[in-house]
Amino acid sequence: MPSDRPSSPLPSSSQPSDELASSAFPLTLSDPHFGALIDAVQDYAIFMLDPDGRVVSWNRGAQSIKGYTAGEIIGQHFSVFYTPDDVASGKPRTELLLAASEGRIEDEGWRVRKDGSHFWANATITAIRAPDGSLRGFAKVTRDMTDRLRLVELQHASALSSHVQSAREEERTRIARELHDDLGQQLVALKMDVALLDQAATEDGKTARHTIAQTIALQVQIDSIIASARRIAGGLRPPMLDDLGLGAALEWLAAEFRNRYGLAVSVQNAADQLALSPTAATAIFRIAQEALTNVTRHAEATRVRVQMRVEQDELRMHVEDNGKGTTLDRNRGKENFGLLSMQERVRQLHGRITFDSAPGDGFRIDICFPIDAVKANQDDN
Ligand SMILES: Nc1ncnc2c1ncn2[C@@H]1O[C@H](COP(=O)(O)OP(=O)(O)OP(=O)(O)O)[C@@H](O)[C@H]1O
Ligand SMILES: [Mg+2]
Repeated sequence: MPSDRPSSPLPSSSQPSDELASSAFPLTLSDPHFGALIDAVQDYAIFMLDPDGRVVSWNRGAQSIKGYTAGEIIGQHFSVFYTPDDVASGKPRTELLLAASEGRIEDEGWRVRKDGSHFWANATITAIRAPDGSLRGFAKVTRDMTDRLRLVELQHASALSSHVQSAREEERTRIARELHDDLGQQLVALKMDVALLDQAATEDGKTARHTIAQTIALQVQIDSIIASARRIAGGLRPPMLDDLGLGAALEWLAAEFRNRYGLAVSVQNAADQLALSPTAATAIFRIAQEALTNVTRHAEATRVRVQMRVEQDELRMHVEDNGKGTTLDRNRGKENFGLLSMQERVRQLHGRITFDSAPGDGFRIDICFPIDAVKANQDDN
């Protein structure tokens, strides 16, 4: 009857290999204490294979990592732990051959649990030889590295996200400059031409009145296009953020939202004496911009307050509206990126961010940045 208890990690007939027998460790492979020790290991799957690759022992760690009980797996070929692609390419056999010829091999890759799920494994296969050199089998030690792999992937995703964010910011700056400098200049030149035409037409007594009216209408239209180009360029990246700093840019932003949405936006900036790095200034500006955009889209608020202050070794930012609020956990869908991108920007600057809201109770955003992470000269720019 197959037992569900992990079996002794070594067949009782096993003889110590020269390598292990000569170890300074007082236990030997045939010692029952050694078997108990290996069996007690939870974080590593430690098991033996016969020279053909069939499982002959199984410890507790193997059971918890791979999902098979000793009774289920002993006697089966170890290729069941490999993905179908690896089996098709002959990887299990190749690994045994390599371990036999080189003594020991190490490999990282996907392995399959009993339930079919995959885990990222670090596996070592060591050939076990009798004193006469004949192959007795293999000792296999496998560790589940999935969490570590996920961590590396997360770190990679986070590095990628900051790269994308800064590339996006550079692109916005470039388009804003083109809009302002190129298109803006051309429009101003066009307006001057029309103004000269208007002057000539007015001086020429014969010019029909409707022609003069048309040139005046044209000038009004050009003025409005110039204003639009400035507004679009400013929205992409307000020039004062680079020239005059965050304080001026926040004031400009507040004025934009006041004029366009009739929202009473107040900015209380008690941190203006703090010289910020360009990265930090951009991040705070974008957070404020997203917070105000959210207010106009979701809050039905009449008033928003943006506050900045330095407290001990932290820069604190607070945005608060008097709108209809929301139930926070219901609103973090896959299509909502605004709050997520605020969190990401804050995380990149080693800060903390909290959102607080309830239906009928407005929306509050609180952020703390360590001063050292946001002040000028800490930045690579
Ligand atoms: N000031 C606010 N008042 C009320 N609800 C808000 C406020 N800010 C955000 N919310 C709620 O939180 C949700 C998530 O906001 P978030 O900015 O992440 O996404 P979004 O604005 O819906 O989309 P986008 O990705 O374009 O920003 C919103 O859909 C809204 O329901
Ligand atoms: Mg949003």
